[in-house]
Amino acid sequence: MSNRYFKLLSGFIQPLFFTLGIYVGLSQSPQRHSSGGSPLLQNAYNRDSHSLDGDWKYLVDRYETSYYSFFRVPYDSLNPENYGRDPVWLDETPKDKSDRLEYDWDSAASLQVPGDWNSQEESLYFYEGSIYYRTTFNDPRKSPDERLLLYFGGANYRTDVFINGKKIGYHTGGFTPFNFFIGPAVKSRNNSLVVHVSNARDPSGVPMDVTDWWNYGGLTRSVKLLVLPETYVLDYHLQLDPEATGLLSGYVQLDGSGRADKEINIRSNSLDLSIKERSDDAGRINISRPIELSNDQYWSPSSPVLHDFTITSGQDTVMDSIGLRTIRVAGSEILLNGKPVFLRGICAHEENPIAGRRANSRSDARLIMGWAEELHANFLRLAHYPHNEHMPRTADSKGVLLWEEIPVYWVIDWDNPYTLALAKHQLSQLIARDKNRASVIIWSLANETPNIPEKDHFLKALADLAREQDPGRLISAALFKSKINDTLLTVDDPFSKYTDILSFNQYLGWYEGLPAKIDSVAFRFEKEMPVLVSEWGAGALAGFRGDSLTRWSEDYQDYLYRKQLELMDRIPQLSGFTPWILADFRSPRRMHPQFQQGWNRKGVIGQDGTRKLAFYRLQAYYRKLQQAAKSEN
Ligand code: GCU
Repeated sequence: MSNRYFKLLSGFIQPLFFTLGIYVGLSQSPQRHSSGGSPLLQNAYNRDSHSLDGDWKYLVDRYETSYYSFFRVPYDSLNPENYGRDPVWLDETPKDKSDRLEYDWDSAASLQVPGDWNSQEESLYFYEGSIYYRTTFNDPRKSPDERLLLYFGGANYRTDVFINGKKIGYHTGGFTPFNFFIGPAVKSRNNSLVVHVSNARDPSGVPMDVTDWWNYGGLTRSVKLLVLPETYVLDYHLQLDPEATGLLSGYVQLDGSGRADKEINIRSNSLDLSIKERSDDAGRINISRPIELSNDQYWSPSSPVLHDFTITSGQDTVMDSIGLRTIRVAGSEILLNGKPVFLRGICAHEENPIAGRRANSRSDARLIMGWAEELHANFLRLAHYPHNEHMPRTADSKGVLLWEEIPVYWVIDWDNPYTLALAKHQLSQLIARDKNRASVIIWSLANETPNIPEKDHFLKALADLAREQDPGRLISAALFKSKINDTLLTVDDPFSKYTDILSFNQYLGWYEGLPAKIDSVAFRFEKEMPVLVSEWGAGALAGFRGDSLTRWSEDYQDYLYRKQLELMDRIPQLSGFTPWILADFRSPRRMHPQFQQGWNRKGVIGQDGTRKLAFYRLQAYYRKLQQAAKSEN
């Protein structure tokens, strides 16, 4: 090769190797699930805020054109001092190059936020990949000394945030809130907020890349701005001490330069309570205050009393409505406020099946909760991931007990430190968001995970974290059953010894034999602890009728419910059950052209709201239990 060509080539090759070297270096750095975020603001739900919900422009980026050069090298790494800068789409590009740009925000189409993209555009129904959203906003602050917080209720699955062409940070995880302080990046008017969301499935993610629910992508929950004083109330936890119900315990945590030695006032008119203390050097006060509650001041399903709390410190005031109750286990009973409670439950996905989309509003929460109440249920298993915050808030006011879960679902990359860190992150965010919600009584750490040591190690780390961050709640996981022999069944998953409630799924009569098989089985458990059957059910296409053995008919499902309910009557130590599932829901794994069409049909309610025969059978069973419970109290 002539010297001239070699020089030319080496002049070209060197920067490429330099770039690739950076790329390799960057890609070796341990993967992180989030960056640039700030600690989650407690009770953003009730604080004054400036909503950014509404129509956002969007651009589909199927081949990640905005992020990789045509050499497949991330723009982030092309120029090291620009690491973290925006991909080319997000630059406020000088107008003299604008005619060569192959995108345009002004003429782009819009998507509704909050909302998954799959249900808004036919062309996005199956879409899995990147979409860029854009909206603009004016700085709502009155003074530059105030803080400006950008808060996301949740977005599925990877979210990158840019303000005026500058990268603010990113978050991984599809079902928990996250927030960023953005004050330094904003100007007074017409700020450009661009958000990249990708719902691409990740084999090292939580969940992994196969689930039995629809992979709804996008800004699925509300986005808002909150203006906070420099020193503000970051977090608090107020509850009855789980051990001694005569104590109100918890803490208040300030953040900001003036957090130390600051007066904090906690007031509740309904409790005639006033606490005034000064924060320590870390900006925190711990609370352990004797409190006398009359019976009608405890929170319970029959009396969901919420107490007003106002927390003030300096220029910041935050108000919340908190129910006070205790939950613990004794022997094989679950005790709510010291009395045994039977959990008349049902499972639910975060979906409005009639609208065919992710549930994301207060009215969606009322629809789902209303169906559960119509069943005379007092308990909802929110499967298989944290639902939006309207659910625990609605459950608090309606008196519905909740099981909340993180999506450690089926198979997870058990040995990957990134995956464990991500699972811990999601659990911490769920606890941070809902720890003041009386309705939430159980943190579930997994669903149907394999009986292998790696899983036990992974879940034990999560159990330790939950107990450390929130000792006042119960821990469980939906495990698999196992056989003692052909007719005697049990649960022998080693992880069960780390749980407070022994929960398991079983599909006798649907995946395993016919409903009559149920008559021949019994359960026995080694350890004296509460047992909860966290799933059983059968598929039925609403309106399709036959005899009790016509598969996919309402009659078959109803027959199975009859047999399963007879089995529930003879399971020892049973403290509740949650049949699978309240309503039909979308799943990419359910494509039978006649009976499923992309829907899992195990709902007792059809996708159009039709109550199937099994709904009425379960309703009658729960009505009897409810009447018996009332007559006992
Ligand atoms: C499993 C799983 C659910 C799934 C259900 C079914 O137990 O936990 O997510 O939808 O069974 O097969 O319908």
